[in-house]
Amino acid sequence: MEKKLFDGIIHGGDYNPEQWLGTPEVLDEDIRLMKAAHVNCATLGVFSWAVLEPEEGVYNFGWLDEIMNRLHANGIDVVLATPSAARPHWLAEKYPEVLRTPESGIRNEFGVRRNHCLTSPVYREKVREINRRLAERYKNHPALKMWHVSNEYRGECHCELCQQAFREWLKEYYHDSLDELNFKWWNDFWSHRVTDWSQINSPKSRGEYHTHGLQLCWNRFVSDSHISFFENEIIPLREITPDIPVTTNLMNMHPCIDYQKFAKHLDLVSWDSYPHWDKGFNESEAAKTAFAHDAFRSMKDGQPFFMMECTPSLVNWHGVNKLPRSGRNALAAIQAVAHGADSVQYFQWRKSRGGYEKFQGAVVDHCGHENTRVFREVSQLGKHLENLSEVTGKYCDARIAVVYDWENNWAVKDFAGYNNENRNYLDECVKWYTPFFEKGISVDVISMDSDFSKYDLVIAPFLYMLKDGTDERIEEYVKNRGNFVATYLTGVVDKDDLCFLGGLPANNLKNVFGIWAEETDSLPEGITNSAACFGKEYEVSHVCDIIHARDAEILGEYKKDFYADTPALTKNRFGKGTAYYVAFRNDKDFARDFCERLIEEIKLKPDCGVSTPDGVYVRKRGECIFITNFADEEKAFTLDREYFDLINGEPVSGKITLPVCGYRVIK
Ligand code: GLA
Ligand code: ZN
Repeated sequence: MEKKLFDGIIHGGDYNPEQWLGTPEVLDEDIRLMKAAHVNCATLGVFSWAVLEPEEGVYNFGWLDEIMNRLHANGIDVVLATPSAARPHWLAEKYPEVLRTPESGIRNEFGVRRNHCLTSPVYREKVREINRRLAERYKNHPALKMWHVSNEYRGECHCELCQQAFREWLKEYYHDSLDELNFKWWNDFWSHRVTDWSQINSPKSRGEYHTHGLQLCWNRFVSDSHISFFENEIIPLREITPDIPVTTNLMNMHPCIDYQKFAKHLDLVSWDSYPHWDKGFNESEAAKTAFAHDAFRSMKDGQPFFMMECTPSLVNWHGVNKLPRSGRNALAAIQAVAHGADSVQYFQWRKSRGGYEKFQGAVVDHCGHENTRVFREVSQLGKHLENLSEVTGKYCDARIAVVYDWENNWAVKDFAGYNNENRNYLDECVKWYTPFFEKGISVDVISMDSDFSKYDLVIAPFLYMLKDGTDERIEEYVKNRGNFVATYLTGVVDKDDLCFLGGLPANNLKNVFGIWAEETDSLPEGITNSAACFGKEYEVSHVCDIIHARDAEILGEYKKDFYADTPALTKNRFGKGTAYYVAFRNDKDFARDFCERLIEEIKLKPDCGVSTPDGVYVRKRGECIFITNFADEEKAFTLDREYFDLINGEPVSGKITLPVCGYRVIK
């Protein structure tokens, strides 16, 4: 499948000329340098509100007109931001309700960014107004290619307006029935029965923080508030510029907003990728980053996404900001494109002279010229990306999916019980993703609401919470030829965090998996059990279910403790498909071995014929095969036939040697 918004790969990033209006020679240099760096797009206006509207109702667009004109004249497109992530002093002074109130209940003063109430009608109106002015002004500007709404939405507000909005949200969710709410929150526990909607407040450490139903609802409400804030922002954009796509930059697998839900409101998903290479440039970080790329790509059924930010050199907010070795950032950028990104955009183009981010890496450093290591690497990458334009718009077709679900994450992080110290939901999902990633097999990362039927294999680690109908959808899927893998603590609670009665996993899943999970053991750090499967022993850590096989075949058993010799791994034929239950947690060895067997069993072919040594990852996108060396040393391998190298434009075959951070794109 293919869907193109732009012609080539976008290469550019956040550009903040408003910081340099007093030194026009810097702005002239920017254009020359952008061209030298093969930059074709600039993101403008992310934090420009105070310059755009210096006084209430007084607008100042001249500088932006000039910058946009100049960029356009030089062949550089613009992603234009709405400025709601930071506001001018006058706005907060005149309308204090726009400021955010943290848990303490004491309203914040003006400062930092993202410091706004999500409900305030005044703020929503002011945001709509500035957005309307921007849209009116630039609706016909030829440089305008996309809207970047706000910046990295996140956080929550506990002000009275938000409390009221929360209560209204609850009334709708629970059909105006306090009885329903009391039942779902199990409020007769600890005498928590609510008799008036006004008694309900946001969860907080000086109040209620042990009612899981309340916490889940608050998570959903905060997430929905961001989405409705966004919907409010885009009213004028949709009206005045209906053909300009709208996005907002999401933040890794950040828990604050249900991105899988939010994505449906965006024309294109974009996210900011800042891997922790500071903790060592390593293969597991490569897998984790790839997992996130695939999660964002999967949010709109595989539609390509934008990597709206990454650093061209280093960041300023890691504990220790180690310089990247040469080639590292380019390799990460190529990885993003391999996994479906149609852009490589940096934060930021030019380093701020002052302020909090003066040491955050930029394409142009304080020295102001292009004779730097970072600049050379960025421009070389820009050149390479120009040769890869044919991949843009290309979807990847995955036959495997790993379920990572935002709402399940909320439920998992808050419940008390079992192993409170080692939840690691995300890490567990990445662990099951990694074996396929290492083999160059495409994987989608989906929510539990997604359509399972298009996959040959669905793996849903730690699917503790089931939304309405999820169990039936799993059953349907397996019945009709699907292969489904579940692990310990699957199907324990419903969407309100009420436990399922009648034995686990919930409802008919006991028949689908052919098991009954009677108890769950938790293992402190350093204490392990072991499971014998396929003639090997695997360490069991953190958490494991004690299960009974009813119809299921037993593929592995525990070796120690009072549940030695009971099943640890089962397989059940159900309808035309197969359901596996992995009752224990293990480090990645088990997942690797087990996935290898699954690949054989379901006869899954690799996406391409290129096989590479450890640390060198292959990913196919369209006709193109991306080969990336994330190992700490030079690696060599042999191609299975002749290919065409897109970057240097020559045929390639035989032995390939990739230096550290080296990459090739062939077809
Ligand atoms: C985030 C923000 C940017 C900038 C960078 C710094 O991603 O969106 O405005 O602060 O971090 O790394
Ligand atoms: Zn508020």
